[in-house]
Amino acid sequence: MDQALAQILNLLLESERAGVAALDQLLKEVTPDELRKLLTTSREDEAATASQLEALIRSGGDIPSTKVGDFAAKVAAAGSLRERLKLLIHGEEWVARKVEEAIAIAPATGPIHDQLQKMANRHRFEVEWGRAELIRLMNTLG
Ligand SMILES: [Fe+2]
Repeated sequence: MDQALAQILNLLLESERAGVAALDQLLKEVTPDELRKLLTTSREDEAATASQLEALIRSGGDIPSTKVGDFAAKVAAAGSLRERLKLLIHGEEWVARKVEEAIAIAPATGPIHDQLQKMANRHRFEVEWGRAELIRLMNTLG
C-alpha cells in the first residue's frame, strides 16, 4: 500500500494500543458503575480496532508496528482522575483528526476506507459522551 497511508495506519495502531493501556490504568481507580461501563466499552473498542488495523496493514503487504504510543504515560502523569479523563478526551480528539487525515489519503472505497469511517464515527461519539460525562462528573470526582 501507499507508504504515507501505511505510516498513518501504524500511527493509529500505536495510538489505539496506548488508549487500551490508558484505559486499563483508569479502570484500576474509577469506581462509579456507569463510568466504568463506558470506559470498559471504550477499552474493548480500542482493542478491537487495534487488531483490525493490524490485519489491514498486514493484508496490504506492510508490517504492523509493535509499538505502543506514549499517550498512556502522559495520561498516567496527568494527576487527578478528572485531569486524566480530560486528557483521554483530548487524545480521542487527536485520533479523530488523524483518522480524517487517513481517510483523505486512503482509497475512496474498500476495507481500509470502511474501517477508518467506523473509527471516525466512534471517536466522534466518544469525544461527545466524554465531554458530557466529564461535565456531569465534575461534582462527584475529586
Ligand atoms: Fe481511540
